[in-house]
Amino acid sequence: MSTFKAPKGTYDLIPPDSAKYLAVREAIAAPLRNSGYGYIETPGFESVELFARGVGESTDIVTKEMYAFETKGGDRLALRPEGTASVLRAALEANLHKAGNLPVKLWYSGSYYRYERPQKGRYRHFSQVGAEAIGAEDPALDAELIILADQAYRSLGLREFRILLNSLGDQECRPVYRAALQDFLRGLDLDEETLRRADINPLRVLDDKRDDVQKQLVGAPLLRDYLCDACKAYHEEVRELITAAGVSFEDDAKLVRGLDYYTRTTFEFVHDGLGSQSAVGGGGRYDGLSEMIGGPALPSVGWALGVDRTVLALEAEGVTLQLPAATSVFAVPLGDEARRVLFGVVSELRRNGVAADFSYGAKGLKGAMKNANRSGARYTVVAGERDLAEGVVQLKDMESGEQVAVGVNEIVAELESRLS
Ligand code: HAM
Repeated sequence: MSTFKAPKGTYDLIPPDSAKYLAVREAIAAPLRNSGYGYIETPGFESVELFARGVGESTDIVTKEMYAFETKGGDRLALRPEGTASVLRAALEANLHKAGNLPVKLWYSGSYYRYERPQKGRYRHFSQVGAEAIGAEDPALDAELIILADQAYRSLGLREFRILLNSLGDQECRPVYRAALQDFLRGLDLDEETLRRADINPLRVLDDKRDDVQKQLVGAPLLRDYLCDACKAYHEEVRELITAAGVSFEDDAKLVRGLDYYTRTTFEFVHDGLGSQSAVGGGGRYDGLSEMIGGPALPSVGWALGVDRTVLALEAEGVTLQLPAATSVFAVPLGDEARRVLFGVVSELRRNGVAADFSYGAKGLKGAMKNANRSGARYTVVAGERDLAEGVVQLKDMESGEQVAVGVNEIVAELESRLS
C-alpha cells in the first residue's frame, strides 16, 4: 500500500465491481439513446456564478457544498455539483435552441462533486447519468422522461423503487403559496436559522429532516391546494400519461427538491433498501432556468439518476447483472515457439471480436492455468512443442473439463463457432 489513500468521501471503482458501474451507466443511457437524446459532454468545472444563479444562492449545494476555487488567472470556478445548469449553458452557447428543432434532447454521464458529510450512499465525488429536454412545454415530455427512467431501472432488474411526484407550480401560483406558507411558519416554534430559511426559501423548510420540526409542519398549507388552473391541468395530464404507460407513482405533496430551479413537475425515485440516502434519482421541470442564466425563455425538463446509489440499490435487492464475460479464451503457451503461435491466435481472435487474453511472463503450466481459471474464460488453448510438431493445439473447455486437439489453422474458426 502506498502512503496515499482516496480522499475522504470518495472511492475507487476497481475490477470486478467496476463492471457493474459501466453496465448501470449503459442501462440508463440505452432508453435515452433510443428516444432521440443526443450525447453531450461539458467541462468538470464551470463559473461559480452559473451554479449560484442556476441552482440557487440559498441552497445547501451552493452555500455549503461547492468545491469553489480561484484560478491563477483570477477566475472563480467550481467543480460541477450537478449537470443541468452546465448542459443548459452549453446548449445556449452553441445555439442549439435556434436550430429550429425543439425540444433539444440531450443526455450525459459523468462525475459530480459536493462537499457533503460522507455516509453510505452519500459521497463527495459521485456519478450521474442525466437527461435534459430543452425548449418545450408539453406534459408528454415530462411523462416521457419519467417513463424512460422507470424503463432504465426495470431493465436493470430493480423492482423495489418508488416514484414520488409533485407539482411546484409556476410564477403565478407559487408566490401566493409561498406567502401562505411563510405566514404559517412564522407562527411556529423554530430556531433562528430555520426562521431565516423560512424567509428566504420557505419551501425548503418542508424538507427539514428533524422530528420536532416535522411535527409542527403537520397542518402546513400544501402547494397542491394553491396550484393555478394551468398548473393543475398540466399536472393532471402528466399523471394521466404516466398512468396510461403503466408506470405507477405516488403523489407526494411535500416533495421539495434541493435545487431552486424547479417549476411544475418534480419527481424523485426512491429505493427503500438504501436507508437515509434513499433517492436514487430525481428531476423535474425548470421553466425559468434559462432566463436565470441570461438566456431566452426555454421551458425545459430533465432528470439525473445516481449511478453509485443505483449500484447500491441493485445490491440491496440482491440483483446480479448479466455481465458479458471479460475473457472468453485464455491462451497458455509452453515454450518460445508456442508463444509466437498463440500470440498470433489471440490477436486474430481479438480482431474478430472474441474476448481473448494471454499468459504473459515466463510462467510454468500450473501458474498459467491458475491465471486461465481466474480470467473466467470458457476456453483455454494450451500448446507445447510436441503439440506444434503435430500441427495442433489443445483446446480445453473450462466448464466440462473436456480437452481435444485442434489443428493450429482451425483453432480460430473452432472457437468462434463454439462461442457463437
Ligand atoms: P439531485 O437530486 O441533486 O438532482 O441529484 C440526482 C441524483 O444524484 C440523486 O438522486 C442521487 O442519486 C445522486 N446524488 C446526488 N448527490 C449525491 C451524493 N453526494 N452522493 C451520491 N449520489 C448523489 C440533480 O442533480 C439535478 N441536476 C437533476 C435534474 C436534471 N433535474 C433536472 N434535470
